[in-house]
Amino acid sequence: MVGEFRLFFENSEVEKAQHYQTVLSLRGVGVELCQIEQLNARFLRLNPELALCVDASGLWLCANGMKMQPDWRAEVPRLKRASLKSEMLARACQLAEKPHLVDATAGLGHDSLLMAHLGAEVHLIERNPILFSLLEDAKVQAQQDPFLQSTMSRIHLIFADSEMYLQQLQQQGQSVDVVYLDPMFPQRDQNQQAIKKQAQVKKQMQLLHLLLPEHGEMDLGDQLLALAKQIAKRVIVKRPRHAIFLAEQVPDHQWLGDACRFDAYFSKD
Ligand SMILES: C[S@@+](CC[C@H](N)C(=O)[O-])C[C@H]1O[C@@H](n2cnc3c(N)ncnc32)[C@H](O)[C@@H]1O
Repeated sequence: MVGEFRLFFENSEVEKAQHYQTVLSLRGVGVELCQIEQLNARFLRLNPELALCVDASGLWLCANGMKMQPDWRAEVPRLKRASLKSEMLARACQLAEKPHLVDATAGLGHDSLLMAHLGAEVHLIERNPILFSLLEDAKVQAQQDPFLQSTMSRIHLIFADSEMYLQQLQQQGQSVDVVYLDPMFPQRDQNQQAIKKQAQVKKQMQLLHLLLPEHGEMDLGDQLLALAKQIAKRVIVKRPRHAIFLAEQVPDHQWLGDACRFDAYFSKD
């Protein structure tokens, strides 16, 4: 078992709650179902420990009076503004070429969503069972949005550890155009600029850091870089702007933004 989580739900969501309990238990997460009167802001404030909840919008992670889910539909205005020219991520990953891309650290899938929207065929790898289940939910909901339907056909979710996944690709002699890495970075070391982002992003990061504690499941992804370089024509690593290089490897090229940067490693073959 990965852990034990309480899952809060109102009477109207019993079936959904049971469904998530089954799905999560198959992925090694113990879930205690807790039916409550009203799942509202007051309830979340009074129950600040890390837990799950279900409402009409599906599964959420909650803690400290907040709740979060990937919610790809809320990204639509941002996607409508995005273009191959305006997005640093698009230039770094050469999205104009419609690459086959592995996002080896999927998280909430926001970077992958943008990359798939701009034309990439994306395989998202996530090893955390709760985040993976949130991603699955986000995809199902996004498929119902006409604007996101074609993007969803380029999004493929894989529940796995990327170290194993990349090793398997290598053993099978397969290669991909791009491996994208955005591993966790210790919150205490984050440059202030990087954390001074919109409140929504801050909230999501806080909950992510609670779910993936720094001395537990959160590792810094150093070993993924070496594996990625063996199977990809280019590896793009997202870092806070002033962070040290991943695995202390100097990149071949960098794109610098206000809060973050993309480090690129090109295949020498
Ligand atoms: C900072 S988050 C990525 C955020 C993502 N770029 C986004 O746009 O939402 C890092 C994620 O990588 C996942 N991760 C780290 N190492 C991994 C591995 N070896 N295999 C699969 N997932 C991994 C963590 O569970 C976490 O969800």
